[in-house]
Amino acid sequence: MADFDRHPAGRVSSRNFHRVTRWAKLSRSAGGLDFTRAWFDVSRSEAQLMKVRDSGMPDESYWETLFDPTGALEAFPVVDSASAGRFLELGCGYGTFTLAMAKHFHGRIDAFDIDPAMVRRTRDRLSDAGLKNASVYQWDFVAADLPDECGQYDFVAFFHMMHLENPEALLGRILPRVRVGGILAFLHWRPDRATPRGPELPIRPTLSDYRRWSEHFHLTSPIEAVLLDCPHHFAVYCRKSEPT
Ligand SMILES: C[S@@+](CC[C@H](N)C(=O)[O-])C[C@H]1O[C@@H](n2cnc3c(N)ncnc32)[C@H](O)[C@@H]1O
Repeated sequence: MADFDRHPAGRVSSRNFHRVTRWAKLSRSAGGLDFTRAWFDVSRSEAQLMKVRDSGMPDESYWETLFDPTGALEAFPVVDSASAGRFLELGCGYGTFTLAMAKHFHGRIDAFDIDPAMVRRTRDRLSDAGLKNASVYQWDFVAADLPDECGQYDFVAFFHMMHLENPEALLGRILPRVRVGGILAFLHWRPDRATPRGPELPIRPTLSDYRRWSEHFHLTSPIEAVLLDCPHHFAVYCRKSEPT
């Protein structure tokens, strides 16, 4: 109990302690991660959700008219489909990319979001589509490290996330969870002109931001990804080149 109480997102009531424990058992039996020290599935009214700035979403149906997630994913180098690659998605939202990743990649995907409604929606969509290679967890990855049980990843999707208040802190937190040679995939609204959605231009990441981060964290130089059917987006990828 004490471990749950320490989570920065807030205290967990005894009712939720039982929900969490039950969920952990279900997750373990389903072959998912076992976050026995985790805080998750706490309802919105019982925890302070510390979403990063400008991370609200419009209606799902409108959001998904604005870009083609499959066209975007195809622009990034894919981990060998025969290998058991492990994919991490930070901030899954409605599961727009989670579903595309689960179809596109042959490995296992772990997706995280702070918002229980987004977590539920993504889980439901995966289940409706019969996709079993993705798991979705409620987690504040800005406030806390990913659970130890996550292990290491070959591909990390930072999609519509890097306008947050302290992008360097998030990179520093996530990099130890990336294998050497693993891909960090960044996608966001174009920083050079107005787009139908997206945060204010001054806080959108630019190529010079990606260059600065790659130098600071000893990543390979960012390579621009050529996106299909995403006219409002800009994306780059880097590889982790040395242990952290
Ligand atoms: C702009 S949406 C992007 C969703 C998805 N990546 C996509 O591109 O469709 C940002 C998402 O990040 C989530 N988020 C915001 N702050 C977070 C935090 N501190 N920890 C985890 N998720 C967070 C929000 O709930 C939201 O679903």
